[in-house]
Amino acid sequence: MTNNLYTQKILILDFGSQYTQLIARRVREAKVYCEIHPFNMRLETIEGFSPKGIILSGGPASIYDEGAPFADRGILELNVPVLGICYGMQYLTRLLGGEVGRSGDREYGNATIAIEDDRDLFHGLESGEGRSVWMSHGDRIDRMPEGFVVLARSKNSPVAAMADITRTRFGVQFHPEVAHTPDGSKILRNFLFRICGCRPSWSMTSFVHGTVKTLREDIGDDRVICGLSGGVDSSVTAVLLHQAIGGQLSCILVDNGLLRRGEAGEVVEIFQEHYGMDLHLVDASEHFLKHLEGVTDPEEKRKIIGREFISIFEMKAKELGSAKYLAQGTLYPDVIESVSFKGPSATIKSHHNVGGLPEVMNLELIEPLRELFKDEVRQVGVELGLPRELVMRQPFPGPGLAVRILGEITRERLEILRSADAIVIEEIKIAGLYEKVWQSFAVLLPIRTVGVMGDERTYENVIAVRIVDSLDAMTADWSKVPCEVLGRISNRIINSVKGVNRVVYDISSKPPSTIEWE
Ligand code: XMP
Repeated sequence: MTNNLYTQKILILDFGSQYTQLIARRVREAKVYCEIHPFNMRLETIEGFSPKGIILSGGPASIYDEGAPFADRGILELNVPVLGICYGMQYLTRLLGGEVGRSGDREYGNATIAIEDDRDLFHGLESGEGRSVWMSHGDRIDRMPEGFVVLARSKNSPVAAMADITRTRFGVQFHPEVAHTPDGSKILRNFLFRICGCRPSWSMTSFVHGTVKTLREDIGDDRVICGLSGGVDSSVTAVLLHQAIGGQLSCILVDNGLLRRGEAGEVVEIFQEHYGMDLHLVDASEHFLKHLEGVTDPEEKRKIIGREFISIFEMKAKELGSAKYLAQGTLYPDVIESVSFKGPSATIKSHHNVGGLPEVMNLELIEPLRELFKDEVRQVGVELGLPRELVMRQPFPGPGLAVRILGEITRERLEILRSADAIVIEEIKIAGLYEKVWQSFAVLLPIRTVGVMGDERTYENVIAVRIVDSLDAMTADWSKVPCEVLGRISNRIINSVKGVNRVVYDISSKPPSTIEWE
């Protein structure tokens, strides 16, 4: 799919820093479109990309390491401004004949710089001592390349920032992209607007207009199939396509019997009744439960659910007639993860929920969100008029409640878990925490414990409550939810969910635990 929306682009070459995605976030927050590509992107491809500026990211290597990542030096002949950050600055220095040396001490964490020149990169920031920045480096610039001047110094870095102003080449030793550098966004905006001459034109409104137009042109009269789960990504994908091609889109919602309470019904209500989409709900709960009978191994459960999803989806799609495309809600972090630093040869991460579908069905893929970050997708959802509840929905795993019932999945256990889960979500919403935490849910443990109710001794199930804070699900911490909220959740579950007499709170972080229990 092509899209001419992206006319003013910044190219970020990734040297492997853990902060590279943050650079992209900051650039896009400034309403400038950017893409991250591996450091070894071919020069012709860069020329074709036609960036208004290039940012060289940081990275874990030392410029002196064997096999240290180097970009094509031709980027300096392209006549576009370049900003090197940390390793990117050291690389620039080496490339241009300056000298990089080892710092006596590795500088890591908060540092202060003194700005000496506030004309370009530091425009609007007063010169002088005491500006906080975030440093993370072992090497430093000992001698700048010819033509460069010092823009800022720190105690451990005589050259904390430098520039060859006539050739618009800049380098900063610190990380302007992280929140610990309070003026970082200002510095990056100076690069984008003053130095590269970009205009703030990337917005979700323009994204929607541009994407709808190109989808329409590219798809023509062909038909598109889209799997809808009710999650944010597939919902936004479907609505965007519906705007573009209306009745040429058919959506399939497979109810695998492992969804949360009321979920399938809500999806039908929104998409079929509100948007008037051609949505086909396939109630396959019996089918899935039958295939999961007696299965207790987590991986086995996942495999069965993935395989059966594909077979049911494929059957329904065939029944609906010939489609040329399959739409998927792949997001930018998945794309970067698969092609970034490791280079284009790294294996593409298969999508959790629909893994394998495109290959099996021999359809061409449409991924209208593949340039967007999650919060941008949410903005698009708002732009398209999707209900806030859906747009802000917490992530839910493809295999659904199957990975939250430890051991065998039975209809009775599913009912218990659904009731308990609905209480967790409701209480978290009442406490105003639903959009603050990353996920909040219930897990049913396959053990029974003794309790007492009235004069009766009980012997019932245990529910574990899992509530975590996270930014990207790669790491997570158990959420310090007020005790009163936990107390209410526990009381309500024990009092109203038949079959549960004990509730525990999961206080494990990821790593070493995972967010889901299976
Ligand atoms: P873990 O349990 O690995 O989960 O810490 C990280 C995030 O991924 C979600 N998750 C899944 N999502 N299919 C999905 O679509 C899956 O099989 C799956 N397993 C875990 C999980 O909810 C959390 O947000």
